[in-house]
Amino acid sequence: MVELTPDEARYAAALVRAEQRAKEAEVKKFTAGHASRLVLEKAADVYRVIAEKLEQPQAGAAASLGNWRRVVVEGPYAIKLPRDERRTGAMCLNRWEAEIWNVWRPKFKWEHLCPVVWADPAGHVLVMQRATLDATEDEILAFVDGDDSYPMAESEYKCEDWGHLEDGRLVVLDYGYACHTEEAIEKQRRYYSQFVR
Ligand SMILES: Nc1ncnc2c1ncn2[C@@H]1O[C@H](COP(=O)(O)OP(=O)(O)O)[C@@H](O)[C@H]1O
Ligand SMILES: [Mg+2]
Repeated sequence: MVELTPDEARYAAALVRAEQRAKEAEVKKFTAGHASRLVLEKAADVYRVIAEKLEQPQAGAAASLGNWRRVVVEGPYAIKLPRDERRTGAMCLNRWEAEIWNVWRPKFKWEHLCPVVWADPAGHVLVMQRATLDATEDEILAFVDGDDSYPMAESEYKCEDWGHLEDGRLVVLDYGYACHTEEAIEKQRRYYSQFVR
């Protein structure tokens, strides 16, 4: 069973209200300072999914528990929400994962990351495309062996962190790897920055 915590519920409710009133300025406020722009047309769909979850927390939802985040899958989306007891670290992971997707992936041409659909700038919610959880160790290792991207995106090789998109592509689902503090994020940012002119 998946229930939103009071914090999540308040935050999601604010998002939903902004969307219902179709206040673009208000919606944009949530993206202020974010490295990339919110994909507004997708956001409405995501809000609807979150709104439905508020009204019917148990309907059709399934959840996975990571070390830091709970991941609720709904329709084509996987919604990553911080676990209560590890909120600060999990919010860092959500923010860093969004930054990897928006900022670093295009620079380093990483093609094996599960796409982020939408993320709020603070890290309360990160929405990814949903993947099927059926990756095998053999295919993960084969991929990693053949991956000559440099620098590499950080991830673990365990099966539950990888999956397949609808088109069959193998993708990694957890790439906020180890950046659960601002200091860790800043260090990794500095490391990646060296490769960028
Ligand atoms: N895009 C996704 N589609 C389907 N399941 C996912 C997706 N992202 C994560 N999951 C599942 O949720 C689990 C926890 O997510 P993860 O990102 O690893 O969180 P944590 O950082 O807490 O480890 C994953 O191991 C995976 O099984
Ligand atoms: Mg994980």
